[in-house]
Amino acid sequence: MKLGFLLCCLCVFTAPTCSTSERCDDWGVDTMKLIQAYEGEPARIRCPLFQDFLKHNYSTAHSAGLTLMWYWTGQGKDLEEPVNIRLPNNRIIKDKDTLWFRPAIINDTGNYTCMLRNTTFCSRVAFPLEVVRKDADSCVSQAVKPEVVELPLEHTERLPCPDTDGFFPVNVTPSVTWYKDCISENFYERLPQGLNLTFIVVRSNYQGNYTCIVTYEDSGKIYNLTRTSEVKVVGPPEDEKPPSMTTPNAKTLYEFAAGEEMLLSCEVFCPFVRNSRNDVWWTVDGKKLEENTERIIITESVNEQLGGAKTIKVSLSIKQVTVEELKRNYTCAARNSLGEVSRQAPVKEKVGTPRYITELACGLGATLFLVVCLIIVYHVYWLEMVLFYRAHFGTDETIGDGKEYDVYVSYARNAEEEEFVLVTLRGVLENEFGYKLCIFDRDSLPGGTVTDETLTFIKKSRRLLVVISPSYILKGTQALLELKAGLENMATQGNIRIILVQYKAIKSREKVKELKLAESVLGVIKWKGDKSKFPNGRFWKQLHVAMPVKKQSQPKSYCNTYIELYPPRGL
Ligand SMILES: *[C@@H]1O[C@H](CO)[C@@H](O)[C@H](O)[C@H]1NC(C)=O
Ligand SMILES: *[C@@H]1O[C@H](CO)[C@@H](O)[C@H](O)[C@H]1NC(C)=O
Ligand SMILES: *[C@@H]1O[C@H](CO)[C@@H](O)[C@H](O)[C@H]1NC(C)=O
Ligand SMILES: *[C@@H]1O[C@H](CO)[C@@H](O)[C@H](O)[C@H]1NC(C)=O
Ligand SMILES: *[C@@H]1O[C@H](CO)[C@@H](O)[C@H](O)[C@H]1NC(C)=O
Ligand SMILES: *[C@@H]1O[C@H](CO)[C@@H](O)[C@H](O)[C@H]1NC(C)=O
Ligand SMILES: *[C@@H]1O[C@H](CO)[C@@H](O)[C@H](O)[C@H]1NC(C)=O
Ligand SMILES: *[C@@H]1O[C@H](CO)[C@@H](O)[C@H](O)[C@H]1NC(C)=O
Repeated sequence: MKLGFLLCCLCVFTAPTCSTSERCDDWGVDTMKLIQAYEGEPARIRCPLFQDFLKHNYSTAHSAGLTLMWYWTGQGKDLEEPVNIRLPNNRIIKDKDTLWFRPAIINDTGNYTCMLRNTTFCSRVAFPLEVVRKDADSCVSQAVKPEVVELPLEHTERLPCPDTDGFFPVNVTPSVTWYKDCISENFYERLPQGLNLTFIVVRSNYQGNYTCIVTYEDSGKIYNLTRTSEVKVVGPPEDEKPPSMTTPNAKTLYEFAAGEEMLLSCEVFCPFVRNSRNDVWWTVDGKKLEENTERIIITESVNEQLGGAKTIKVSLSIKQVTVEELKRNYTCAARNSLGEVSRQAPVKEKVGTPRYITELACGLGATLFLVVCLIIVYHVYWLEMVLFYRAHFGTDETIGDGKEYDVYVSYARNAEEEEFVLVTLRGVLENEFGYKLCIFDRDSLPGGTVTDETLTFIKKSRRLLVVISPSYILKGTQALLELKAGLENMATQGNIRIILVQYKAIKSREKVKELKLAESVLGVIKWKGDKSKFPNGRFWKQLHVAMPVKKQSQPKSYCNTYIELYPPRGL
């Protein structure tokens, strides 16, 4: 033993030559085995050779005559030295395959090597120990990653204070204080029972970092052990199921035109399943897409829900897809330890609307538009159109009918109406439109019988123009006689037409029956005072249309544009 130790010291001082001359299977530094401990608290490290690197356990190795030795390299040092197990108060003790620190101090931080050897055999491995200080105003250090413990929702569960066995004799009952996120709260529905914290019912808001500080006495000294578990609330085992696919589905249409971007989305709900990973992937024509290709871009997003369930969305996109690519089989698949699901996105090529349909629609629209335009034009300009037609294509009805006058004017013999007839009506009809008027008081010869002459004149006229006004219907006037004669003439021989011009409105109940009859059969052209004076106005156009078609007497200045375009013949 003594010789071995001496030899070892020699080895340390002549390390390079030593390690080359004495061959040893060196497994290097296993950083995965990092052990963390809090300053001032007991800690232990176990030689990993017996667990991971060699076939034998410590007792078989020991009984086979192999010895275990500990070396360490302190932080910031490059010299490996034996661990000093002869410190005061036995602060560091070697016990079988374990090295105990009672307690650990910051300077213990370093890489520790355990070496197992006899004269012919040697094997060694190193791993780091990190001694950390607690954060200020905290029961833990952020540098220490807590172990994750998954507790199923709605279940009764027991959370043990981890990694405490072996630190104190079994018969010692330590005092334990529990903290959630470093707050020693009054735990509702969670009972601290010594080294266990019992969750009567696990609820989603009970998620968090639970720290237990274990205090015990050993050889007259008080020691603390601080342990933390990160509690995650997960879906209960009865909810564990294979993944289910939301898209692709049969309802979604996957039609793309060539040249468009084709975007397929695969959305999968993965319930929480203990110790299972979730995979979601696309296959194209049966070939799994491991990564993006030149044409296909895969993007993945994970939405984590409470209880550890996840919604995973994997999108496949092809910019400017080709017809060939649209014919491929795009299938999405998802898997966890309980099962697999897959579904094809039924991609189709979008068939565009045929050209002729668009053309047809355009043609129809244009026709409709034209018809509407024509209807509007007709409603606004029908008088002009009729007059235009008559002026160019109408047959002159005055030729050969043996009549002398174009229109006989019947009116109340009253100063106002007389002025209207003799000045206004006559002025336009004779001077502008070139009609020959018969006005009794102007054209009759003195001395004749009024009745006979009236009837003769009416017979010689093509139209009877009645100027309606309240005075017109006074009983026994010549005007009424004229109206009766005209109506009779129209009814019996049909060679005179009556034009009703309302100069002044009459109350309906005052109208004589002849007038009522005439009004019900014929339209009334209304004189609207000053508004109607303008010779290009509606009143005159309506009147002109009612007047006989007469070729040789073109209007002199009926309408300016009209005359410019169609200069009247014979002028
Ligand atoms: C060590 O291994 C031997 C056989 O390989 C076995 O009988 C023994 O129980 C083991 N000892 C421990 C402490 O595991
Ligand atoms: C820790 O190491 C530093 C230098 O490496 C030394 O100054 C200090 O005294 C040591 N502390 C203890 C408690 O041994
Ligand atoms: C332990 O060894 C690893 C790997 O060689 C090194 O990166 C690390 O700094 C060492 N740690 C200490 C505390 O010396
Ligand atoms: C040293 O240990 C190895 C492995 O256990 C064994 O095969 C060998 O016989 C031992 N050598 C001696 C001299 O005990
Ligand atoms: C703590 O829980 C373990 C099982 O997880 C059990 O064996 C032990 O008796 C419990 N201790 C107390 C104090 O309830
Ligand atoms: C628990 O502690 C770890 C490390 O300190 C931290 O990253 C994590 O966010 C904490 N969890 C909760 C729920 O506070
Ligand atoms: C043990 O922990 C308690 C509470 O965290 C603290 O008050 C006490 O000083 C600690 N004792 C030792 C020896 O570290
Ligand atoms: C598409 O591919 C999937 C998986 O590769 C396969 O199960 C499915 O039968 C294929 N569909 C067609 C129509 O070929």
